[in-house]
Amino acid sequence: MALRSAFRKSVLDGTGTRVVLQACALHSSTVPEEPIRVATEASDAELKHTVPVKSLREMPGPGAIGNLIEFFYRDGFSRIHEIQMEHSQKYGKIFKSRFGPQLVVSIADRDLVAQVLRAEGVAPQRANMESWKEYRDMRGRATGLISAEADDWLKMRSVLRQLILRPRDVAVFSDDVSEVVEDLLVKVRKLRSQQPDGHTVHNINDLFFKFAMEGVASILYETRLGCLEEEIPKMSQEYIEALHLMFSSFKTSMYAGAIPKWLRPIIPKPWKEFCHSWDGLFKFSQIHIDRKLAEIKQKTEKGEEVKGGLLTHMLVTKEMNLEEIYANMTEMLLAGVDTTSFTLSWSTYLLARHPIAQQRIYEEVSRVLGGRVPTADDVPQLPLIRGLVKETLRLYPVLPGNGRITQEDLVVGGYFIPKGTQLALCHYSTSMDEETFPKAEEFRPDRWLRKDASDRVENFGSIPFGYGIRSCIGRRIAELEMYLALTQLLQKFYIEGSPLTGDVRAKTHGLLCPSAPISVKFIDRL
Ligand code: HEM
Repeated sequence: MALRSAFRKSVLDGTGTRVVLQACALHSSTVPEEPIRVATEASDAELKHTVPVKSLREMPGPGAIGNLIEFFYRDGFSRIHEIQMEHSQKYGKIFKSRFGPQLVVSIADRDLVAQVLRAEGVAPQRANMESWKEYRDMRGRATGLISAEADDWLKMRSVLRQLILRPRDVAVFSDDVSEVVEDLLVKVRKLRSQQPDGHTVHNINDLFFKFAMEGVASILYETRLGCLEEEIPKMSQEYIEALHLMFSSFKTSMYAGAIPKWLRPIIPKPWKEFCHSWDGLFKFSQIHIDRKLAEIKQKTEKGEEVKGGLLTHMLVTKEMNLEEIYANMTEMLLAGVDTTSFTLSWSTYLLARHPIAQQRIYEEVSRVLGGRVPTADDVPQLPLIRGLVKETLRLYPVLPGNGRITQEDLVVGGYFIPKGTQLALCHYSTSMDEETFPKAEEFRPDRWLRKDASDRVENFGSIPFGYGIRSCIGRRIAELEMYLALTQLLQKFYIEGSPLTGDVRAKTHGLLCPSAPISVKFIDRL
């Protein structure tokens, strides 16, 4: 039932100043339906000079039925990035959509995204994590950084941010990552030798998937998994299968969260698969963590010094309990494999298609390193390698959009957005915006070069790791892996396109990924 009353309150606007809202109509759900007035100060005198603030009802957007058809009938889930672009061109930089009962406000403007993220509180809330939480409650598991909220999240974040958030924190893992890169090079040589031309490696994402998993596990679990070996150990293979199941059942797991519980006995598959893949992921982490714990115990009992990396530190300091460590290691391993491998695949694809850009980057690498193996300390001297990764993530942001639940009333783009609204931040659209990135369709790693120290080329148009307190905690790990792998690949090989691979479009499958296998030639540099 609609409740009509006079209403006046203050909210945050785009400039970060508090504005006063005055409305004459409120809906029972607290979403104002009719135009409201806004002033930048609280006094009644100034309320006379108010600016109209529009309600969500006035916000444009696709109709609910059209949206249902787009997503469920026309397979919009695999075109989320394109739909973002289409909708922002049709409805503007801020628009609303309905997914069943769920209203989502999409923001496809760099400055408005900046406004929302800058206004975030101490523990921003991610959207659509209900199915993750439900699984954890059902199995008596803890939530990790991705799925946790509020105080639980804050506590774990403050532990992890001290360990892996800055480049200098992860520089200590440089040698471990280099060992994995060495195995990657061996694998490239092995794979291409099996082909008639002696150069081609098919489906490079398979290769980079194994590299990313090996790389991130060497840091998280302080162990090698053998993913790049000829015979992958059984346990690692099982984990890969669980991860593939999680990825391939993305759509069903989306439905798992969306399907009402009472329907599960009738349509059991999505929820069953979702739980099965999580069981596999947790089991794998637990085995590795328990093994490390046993090692530590043994050393302590013998009175030996306990030395180690990330996991050892977490187990020894006990800033998180064991269940929290299981959950965080599981979620970080999940978050760190496909993201990194897709980015490496796209980078390699782009290098193969842009020989001139490749040559420039190669020249930088040669000038700075000669033939020397790179370390984390070399990265600041390799701006084009960093530009390559940034440009890849601008063109193919692994997360084409990100979700938030607003924790305060906001005025964004002239609309009143009440607390508790689900927002979709459209990173793909903003990264393709011509105003921010001239010739946005073009691959230009040098657009990220800084002319001098005052030149800040970074902006909210492309924030592939998110921004602020809830941004990607694994960013520096991912960057280290990608910089070291790409630098060594360029040192050793000229990367050439294969006639087997034409234009590869991106598709959304939870993450933005190649819609077809990518094959390239790795030709020895003389
Ligand atoms: C190219 C590689 C990667 C990309 C593009 C990427 C991107 C992202 C993005 C966009 C978010 C959401 C940020 C937000 O909500 O504001 C995120 C969160 C997260 N990522 Fe990454 N990520 C990558 C690699 C990694 C790696 C290697 C790890 C682990 C070692 C990792 C662990 C996480 C975790 C745990 C979160 C949740 C953080 C939190 O809620 O506090 N990511 N990532």
